[in-house]
Amino acid sequence: MKILVIGSGGREHALAWKLAQSPLCDKILAVPGNPGIAQVAECVSLPVSTPSALADFARHAAVDLTIVGPEAPLVEGVVDAFRAHGLRIIGPTAAAARLEGSKVFAKQFMAQAGIPTARFRIASNANEARRLLDEFGYPVVIKADGLAGGKGVVVAENRPQAMAALDRLPPGAFVIEEYLTGEEVSFIAICDGLTAIPLEPTQDHKAVYDDDRGPNTGGMGAYCDSRILTSAERSRIMDTIIHPTLERMRQLGTPFTGFLYAGLMMTSDGPKVLEFNVRMGDPEAQPLMHRMATDLVATLVDGASIEWRPEPSVCVVLAAAGYPGTPRTGDLITGIDECGATVFHAGTRQTERGLVTAGGRVLGVTSSGPDLPSAIRSTYDAVRKIHFDGMHYRADIGRKGLKRW
Ligand code: AMP
Ligand code: GLY
Repeated sequence: MKILVIGSGGREHALAWKLAQSPLCDKILAVPGNPGIAQVAECVSLPVSTPSALADFARHAAVDLTIVGPEAPLVEGVVDAFRAHGLRIIGPTAAAARLEGSKVFAKQFMAQAGIPTARFRIASNANEARRLLDEFGYPVVIKADGLAGGKGVVVAENRPQAMAALDRLPPGAFVIEEYLTGEEVSFIAICDGLTAIPLEPTQDHKAVYDDDRGPNTGGMGAYCDSRILTSAERSRIMDTIIHPTLERMRQLGTPFTGFLYAGLMMTSDGPKVLEFNVRMGDPEAQPLMHRMATDLVATLVDGASIEWRPEPSVCVVLAAAGYPGTPRTGDLITGIDECGATVFHAGTRQTERGLVTAGGRVLGVTSSGPDLPSAIRSTYDAVRKIHFDGMHYRADIGRKGLKRW
C-alpha cells in the first residue's frame, strides 16, 4: 500500500515511523513532513489547508490510504474531499470534527448524550459570559468557542482574572464551566462509526514547567503505561463516554470515524470529559506508537486488534528558546544519533550547517523500560546527550505515574 500522512509534527513522525514497520506498507508520502519523517517517507510540500488540492494530489499519486495528523484539515473538510473522490482516509468528516472545532457544540452534544462533563453554561458573547460568572465559584474555567491551538482555555482563580480573560480571549461564544480536580488522562480510540478500538491510556504534561507550573503548551511530554487506568476504569470510560459519543454521532447523521481523543479528568465522581479532540494526540502519539506491538496498518484497514508491549514508554519534548511564546529558530542540534533513544522530529529543518531548530517543540525523545522508573531514567539519559542552544524541557515527565509502581 501507498500511505499518505498529512502533517509535520512529532505526532506525524511517530505515525510514519510506525507505518514504515508494516509489511502492508510499500511507500509513505508525507505532506509536508519534516526532516525526521523524511527518513521513512517522501515529503511533498503542499498546503495542508486546501482539502481539494490534497485530494487531487492523493488521486494522482495513487495513494491507497491517508492518515491526517492535525485538526485544522479535518475541521476544513479534508475527509469529505477525499471520500468524494472514493479515496480511503482515516479521520472524521467536517461535521463530526465539530466535536473539537467548537467547544459549544461539544458541550451541548455531551449534555444531550448524557456524557459526564463539567457543569457549564454557554454565553454568546463576552458580556453575557461576565454575567454568567455569578453562577460559578472559583476557580472557574473559561473556554473560547473555536480552535485556538491550545490557547483558548483559561483557568481563572478569581473574578478579576476571569474578567481579564474575557477581555483577552478571541471574541465570540464562550463556555463557562466548573473547575474539576483529579488526574488528567488522554483516552484515544480508533473508530469506524459503529465500533471503537481503545488505545492504551497516556498522560500529557501541558504546562511548560515542572509540577504543572507556567503557561500551557501543546504538550511537553507524555508517557504510556497500562497502570494509568484499571480495567474497571477503562470499561466505565467506554460505557459512559466513547460508546455514547459514537451512538449520538450516528443519531445526528454524522457518524464518527477516525481517532476519537477524550481528554478526561479522573474525578472522585468518575471520569469526566474536559475536551474532545478528533485526532491523535501530540505528544501522546509518540509513546503510543513506541509501545504498540502489532501492525497499525492492519488495525486501521481491517480493525485488527492491537497488542501492546508491557514496557511503559516515555516521550520528553525538547523545546526551543522562547516557547511557548515565539520560539527562536536556527539553533544547531547535536547528539541525536548517539543518544540511544528514538527521537521524533517536530520543529526541525535540514540546512547546510546541519539540523537546526525550526519551531517551538523541536524533538520528542522517546524510550521504554521494563518498569516506569527505568523508562523515565533511560529517556532522560538520552535527553542529556542532545544539545541545542536555548533547549529546555520538563524534568518530571511520568512522575505522576510513579505512585502506581
Ligand atoms: P481543554 O483544551 O478543554 O482540554 O483545556 C486545556 C486544559 O485546561 C486541560 O488539559 C486542563 O488541564 C484544563 N481544563 C480544562 N477544562 C477544565 C476543567 N473543567 N477543570 C479543570 N481543568 C480544566
Ligand atoms: N496533547 C494534547 C493534544 O494533542 O491536544
